[in-house]
Amino acid sequence: RVVAVIMVGGPTKGTRFRPLSLNVPKPLFPLAGQPMVHHPISACRRVSRQFPPSFVSWIPSLQIPNLAQIYLIGFYEEREFALYVSSISNELRIPVRYLREDKPHGSAGGLYSFRDYIMEDSPSHIVLLNCDVCSSFPLPDMLEAHKKYGGMGTLLVNKVSAESANQFGELVADPDTNELLHYTEKPETFVSDLINCGVYIFTPNIFNAIEDVLKQKKDRANLRRVSSFEALQSATKALPADFVRLDQDILSPLAGKKELYTYQTLDFWEQIKTPGMSLRCSGLYLSQFRRTSPHLLASGDGKRTATIVGDVYIHPSAKVHPTSKIGPNVSISANARVGAGARLINCIILDDVEIMENAVVIHSIVGWKSSIGKWSRVQAIHLGEGDHNAKLGITILGEAVDVEDEVVVVNSIVLPNKTLNVSVQEEIIL
Ligand code: GDD
Repeated sequence: RVVAVIMVGGPTKGTRFRPLSLNVPKPLFPLAGQPMVHHPISACRRVSRQFPPSFVSWIPSLQIPNLAQIYLIGFYEEREFALYVSSISNELRIPVRYLREDKPHGSAGGLYSFRDYIMEDSPSHIVLLNCDVCSSFPLPDMLEAHKKYGGMGTLLVNKVSAESANQFGELVADPDTNELLHYTEKPETFVSDLINCGVYIFTPNIFNAIEDVLKQKKDRANLRRVSSFEALQSATKALPADFVRLDQDILSPLAGKKELYTYQTLDFWEQIKTPGMSLRCSGLYLSQFRRTSPHLLASGDGKRTATIVGDVYIHPSAKVHPTSKIGPNVSISANARVGAGARLINCIILDDVEIMENAVVIHSIVGWKSSIGKWSRVQAIHLGEGDHNAKLGITILGEAVDVEDEVVVVNSIVLPNKTLNVSVQEEIIL
């Protein structure tokens, strides 16, 4: 049996995701019309598919032969996840539960603090996922590889450009055996362009490894108490003794000990730390839908539907005028209204937004209950390769922003509850 755990973090994380994380916990922000965390959850469900999908749908009880539970572990308030976990449990017919840490324990410490829940079903394997990564999550293949390697853990890894590698855990793997030989978290000097994707499969022995680290930390803290100078030093610098990071505290010391192995993804993978990345990842998931769930994509082939270009998601409750033109990479959430002649390209339109006649939205995220007036433009301008406005790259309107008629908003971030009656460019409106 397999138990899946998704680390969702908490409100102190995700500050780079503002202003979008002011309304909704980052893991519930919609990508391709589904909460961010929905995508790894769907991938976990695929672990349980031992039978061809057509066969499974005939006998629904066969859908969960393998996957016992999915836990989301975080330090957000419970009520923020309550509705989502109950609806997704019903939809997938797999128990999904939110477990709240009283304070952050680090990625491995958080896992460890709920070991009794996780071990309740005596799983042979634990799938552990960061919620803020976008991937096809090739879990069934990874699980097969993990069983062959015979180690305690297998990490999903990916090749990235040498310039961007230092934002991640960099690692070296044996090209023949795939054993993890060396691991450094976000190093200052370049080690490798092979990086940790934040997707793991472990045997329950991971809990022994975390326990060992906790013991060492406690021993060290006791030793320090002996010297008052060191005690002062550690009080100002050290993390709490029950704070364990999976990367620095577990992966680094266990590399090269035949305990950890790697599985390289050749499919898409991105990290989602900023709103700009969420827009890109929304597009990646929409194009994945073309292969996995084409029924979720707008077809635009009826006479009364808008012109659809490329991959587009439109929530069934949204009202989109037939003379509007939408796509590619557009996701329109519940109760949004798009007026006649409007043009939408590469954008996320959140719940209850109104886009009036002939407005244009390009490379943007439009926050809940915002409205964009007639003939207005909300967009980002990419100034060509290399000169691409790295700082913004997109325009973001927070919740309940009103852009009046004929106003142009370019490469800007607008915080919630603002009214724009003049055009702005490259501004952050506080
Ligand atoms: N529940 C809980 N409690 N979750 C946590 C905690 C905690 O105390 N700390 C972090 N997380 C969650 C975050 O929400 C995120 O999903 C995941 O754990 C990892 O977060 P960080 O520890 O902040 O690391 P990171 O995202 O900067 O980098 C990690 O992921 C990269 C891939 O996206 C590292 O593992 C890198 O090596 C890796 O490349």
